[in-house]
Amino acid sequence: MASTKLVFSFIVASFLVFLLPPSHAASHSDFEDIKISSSIDSQMVNLSVYYEALSPSCATFIIQNLTGVFDDDLITITNLRMVPWGNAHVNETDNTIICQNGRDECFLHKIQACAINVWNDVDKYYALIHCMEFLVIDGTHSDWQSCFNSLGLSEEPILECYNNGTGAKLQALYGYETAHLDPPHVFMPWVVVNNKSLGKDYGDFTTYICSAYEGKVKPNACKSST
Ligand SMILES: *[C@@H]1O[C@H](CO)[C@@H](O)[C@H](O)[C@H]1NC(C)=O
Ligand SMILES: *[C@@H]1O[C@H](CO)[C@@H](O)[C@H](O)[C@H]1NC(C)=O
Ligand SMILES: *[C@@H]1O[C@H](CO)[C@@H](O)[C@H](O)[C@H]1NC(C)=O
Ligand SMILES: *[C@@H]1O[C@H](CO)[C@@H](O)[C@H](O)[C@H]1NC(C)=O
Ligand SMILES: *[C@@H]1O[C@H](CO)[C@@H](O)[C@H](O)[C@H]1NC(C)=O
Repeated sequence: MASTKLVFSFIVASFLVFLLPPSHAASHSDFEDIKISSSIDSQMVNLSVYYEALSPSCATFIIQNLTGVFDDDLITITNLRMVPWGNAHVNETDNTIICQNGRDECFLHKIQACAINVWNDVDKYYALIHCMEFLVIDGTHSDWQSCFNSLGLSEEPILECYNNGTGAKLQALYGYETAHLDPPHVFMPWVVVNNKSLGKDYGDFTTYICSAYEGKVKPNACKSST
């Protein structure tokens, strides 16, 4: 009887000794996880890309370099904001928008602005912009509609946005934002990480995103660069 009791308390004791440290560790890491996941959301770094649709240097940057934001989980800490306006300006006399590279450029800006805002899904609108900018480099941007087909995306809501006045409002907002850049942009593409303009260093956006990021869980993109 006494020995049964002893054996029982030995079992309980060793069970507790065995159990306590891991259980304590588990609850500690649960707490860490909660803190980390909430910090990821609030620590998202803004990567704002001011660009114009028919500029070869913007198109090249988007196709060759900016796509890298989707590598090594960098996008999980990045709020990628595409701002299609570039060096456009408004003719104060009749309120029309004049784009540096002509009417087609204004057209593509409005289509891309609508894709960004109607879908509100970076995977979708980046794919569309990437496809269109690829055509720009190819000299075939008039085939822009083929991008909807090749990506399996519906152009209907985008054209509706283009035609129902929403596109014009979005253009006005992007124009306002671009005009109020501080410091003002000097060339396109103009890349800003949080509030810091990268200037000529724009190809190096990964380094700037990683150093601006204050969250605890680093994506692989930031592990390799530090
Ligand atoms: C601005 O609009 C007015 C009225 O349509 C036009 O006469 C003028 O040529 C435009 N200016 C530019 C720079 O396009
Ligand atoms: C314009 O079309 C877009 C896309 O379908 C829609 O989200 C938006 O509400 C429409 N706006 C107006 C004013 O009809
Ligand atoms: C990021 O941009 C959003 C608007 O899209 C803004 O509300 C937020 O303050 C910006 N964050 C930083 C750190 O600049
Ligand atoms: C960025 O600039 C805006 C406007 O000047 C300001 O409201 C915001 O607090 C700034 N954000 C950071 C992270 O400095
Ligand atoms: C973009 O990537 C290409 C190919 O890797 C590279 O040659 C070029 O220097 C990069 N552009 C910028 C602006 O960093």
